[in-house]
Amino acid sequence: MTHYFVGMVGLGVMGGSLARNLARNGYSVAGYDLDATKRQAFAAHASEGPIAAFDAIPAFLAALEKPRRVILLVPANAVDKAIADLKPLLDPGDLLIDLGNSFFMDTERRAVALEKDGLLFIGSGVSGGEKGALRGPAIMPGGQRSAYELVAPALEAIAAKVDGDPCVTYIGPRGAGHYVKTVHNGIEYGIMQLIAEAYHILKDVVGATPDELHRAFSAWNAAEMNAYLIEITAAIFARQDPDSGQALVDLILDEAQQKGTGKWTSQNALDLGVPLHTVNAAVDSRIISGLKAERVKAEGLFAKPAAAFSGDRAAFFEDVRAALYAAILCSYAQGLALLQAGSKEYGYDLNLADIARIWRGGCIIRARLLEDIRQVYAANPATPNLLIAEPFRGQIDSRQAAWRRVLATAIAHGIPAPALAHSLAYFDAYRTGRLPANLTQAQRDYFGSHTYRRIDKEGVFHTEWEE
Ligand code: 6PG
Repeated sequence: MTHYFVGMVGLGVMGGSLARNLARNGYSVAGYDLDATKRQAFAAHASEGPIAAFDAIPAFLAALEKPRRVILLVPANAVDKAIADLKPLLDPGDLLIDLGNSFFMDTERRAVALEKDGLLFIGSGVSGGEKGALRGPAIMPGGQRSAYELVAPALEAIAAKVDGDPCVTYIGPRGAGHYVKTVHNGIEYGIMQLIAEAYHILKDVVGATPDELHRAFSAWNAAEMNAYLIEITAAIFARQDPDSGQALVDLILDEAQQKGTGKWTSQNALDLGVPLHTVNAAVDSRIISGLKAERVKAEGLFAKPAAAFSGDRAAFFEDVRAALYAAILCSYAQGLALLQAGSKEYGYDLNLADIARIWRGGCIIRARLLEDIRQVYAANPATPNLLIAEPFRGQIDSRQAAWRRVLATAIAHGIPAPALAHSLAYFDAYRTGRLPANLTQAQRDYFGSHTYRRIDKEGVFHTEWEE
């Protein structure tokens, strides 16, 4: 009987696409799913490569090469159950690979438990959505290095390529891969919200039409802001609703959903004490978007600012372009600073240059500027913040005036732009040598005798403020 190179548990959209990608690259795949429709849909691709679908775990596992390599692509809340179902039938040295969007602390727990049982375990982020899974995603695997070696050639074969360089690398031990994927998604949330705000401002301040927005985003994508999220935004503005002939984007309900990775990034940054203004604003923006009924009611209760735009339209588009680019840089800067802190805290020994390298293709946050980010960390892995590294320092400096003009206009018009504003506040706080935290310290000492330090003498001080 044929022995398959790898098994795939879960033949849904992502599992089925990744399995087909493996098979197209010559790696034989045994697929397992309880759902007969998914098995049939998968089996229908047999002409693409060596695949087979199974409806029972024992036969599925018996069909695999040893040591077995079993990929799990099931919802995050089904991973423990899948592992429990498989484990009694696995042998020491077999490898489980969780390619779903698992919470990295769950991956830490599973890595420790499975290692005790003599099993190898990889927790890996995969980015690129359904199309990426089929044609080439970015892959962020964490676990034992020996486990990675068992699948490295296959992962390299199916990953996206940038100038022939595969967008996959060994990330680090235990939960490192899922940690990096979570922060990737945090950055993704930041960029998506910034783009949404640029759209809102252009639409409501200068009445930009979907067609104009399509042309602007296409032009931006052709230059310094070249990035997957800018590219798809341009395409979205061009799409018409076939029934009404209107721009489809105008007909979509303004309530953003979320599965949790952005929130996990914010929670982790709070835990580690890393400022994450842009991503936090993006998470909050998705939450408040969900209060649709309340927002509609409140809209009629307040006067709308009566601002009118009297400037140069084309110049305003250029200002928004500059503001968007500078703020997007903040989203990357915060995410990479968080990775640096997480690497220390969890002992992941992350290589930020390599992470930037594999993010250049396949993933949702792929962008031209990631090559510059890679070079910054390759030259100095301890760079504390991207904002102070060239070419980014100069790029931000030359855009800050435009960034401030855009926000001043948005505020005058009553248009919420929290991610653009918090990104600017992040930049302004980061470049301010003396912040008003001295007053906060005085207050803490006043009401709680919490003490303070001084700028003119060494030591810890307390003042009897009420004397
Ligand atoms: C990716 C995406 C992917 C998924 C998100 C959506 O990198 O391919 O990030 O993982 O689309 O989980 O997340 P939300 O539902 O939270 O927006």
